[in-house]
Amino acid sequence: MNKKLGPGTTAIHGGYGPYDHALPTEPVVEAIHQSTTFAFETVEDHQNAIFNNLVYPLYTRAASGNPTLRLLESRLAALYGAEAVLATSSGMAAINLTLMHLLKPGDHVIMGRCYRLTHNIAQLILGDKMGVEYTLLNSDDINDFPKFINERTRVLMLDVPNNPLITVIDLEQAVNIAHAHGITVILDDTCASPINMQAFDMGVDIIACSLTKYLCGHGNAVGGAIISNAKLIKAIRSGLYPRIGCAISPFNAWLVMQGLKTLHLRMLRHNQSAQALAEFLEGHPKVARVFYPGLPSHPQHELARRMMSGFGGMMSFVVKGGDKAATAMTNALKVCKIGTSFGQAETMIETGWMSHYEWSMEDRISFGLYPGFVRVSTGLEDADDLIADFDQALTQIEVDVNERLPEPASESRLEWKPTITTKE
Ligand SMILES: Cc1ncc(COP(=O)(O)O)c(C=O)c1O
Repeated sequence: MNKKLGPGTTAIHGGYGPYDHALPTEPVVEAIHQSTTFAFETVEDHQNAIFNNLVYPLYTRAASGNPTLRLLESRLAALYGAEAVLATSSGMAAINLTLMHLLKPGDHVIMGRCYRLTHNIAQLILGDKMGVEYTLLNSDDINDFPKFINERTRVLMLDVPNNPLITVIDLEQAVNIAHAHGITVILDDTCASPINMQAFDMGVDIIACSLTKYLCGHGNAVGGAIISNAKLIKAIRSGLYPRIGCAISPFNAWLVMQGLKTLHLRMLRHNQSAQALAEFLEGHPKVARVFYPGLPSHPQHELARRMMSGFGGMMSFVVKGGDKAATAMTNALKVCKIGTSFGQAETMIETGWMSHYEWSMEDRISFGLYPGFVRVSTGLEDADDLIADFDQALTQIEVDVNERLPEPASESRLEWKPTITTKE
């Protein structure tokens, strides 16, 4: 069979395990190798493995990892069409490890609009602890980026579609600009998933993402992955990874593999339900604005159509009446769950006040998190039930339907540095 296997087949069967084909039968569902340590027959076998660079299971945290982890990694590599993958204990570990590997004191990194804790990495770790210069750009227009590049710029970090604004930046153009300056592009594609966006086809160098969300899909395992070429993954695997100690647990790796088997089906449902809910919310008089790439009103709708094969399950919207009304509406929901994280069976809702509590209101508004902002991760429930839930919750709030969105507090700041008011 020469035909390239589709993403559904690959997510179920892709990759290889070191113990495969050892017996005439094998388990259909992957084994969990929970052992932390793997014993050798002799001391010489151990030394042979070390000095001849043989890949045997050695210690779960270490470079020659556990067979369950190795199977997850090779399956993800097949799914992404990449040479190699390093699975990590969380998405944050994957992003952190990648940035720390690529950057040293004196280097410069540019970040577009990213997940709040990725901005935190720039400010609190790269900047405050490693002496790396950083520029955070509050823009979705890639043409705004070149003037911030200098001779020390090594990395461009992007989150597409970003959490929580769900805006999109032109990845192909970003890669062209970055590569012309010898800059490495790291992408966080957590909100999209490889089913909805094939970022390596657009030339990104590294994907550093969370497995906790869509790839696992059931909200029951935290994990992350770095996906790239074999040379880079090997360097991180034998460098910072065992020293920082951020291996994913075998049980979580196994849970992610079970989730992967339905990823292609789940993403279709997330895409369909989110589109239906976004269309409903956009037509609602108590909603000021909806951000969903599948809506023609989205500022990068045409770009998203080119870059994505599905628009995803994530959306945000602004309730008229500000944070008070958004809070009342959120509290009135019956089916949706109030809480952080996303990409699972349950529809999850989080207000801007919840997710960005550590930023001042001025910073929130200039980032686009207007009072009344909520982010929704559309789950796998029946779309009609979700729409009915938002309908009844919106009915319960009293707002001035003629209210308009506030203007950003100061003139729009392209380069910015949000004030972190608490580090809890
Ligand atoms: C876009 C994005 N990337 C990465 C992460 C971090 O993922 P994890 O929770 O697995 O550390 C998150 C978490 O919400 C996220 O939203």
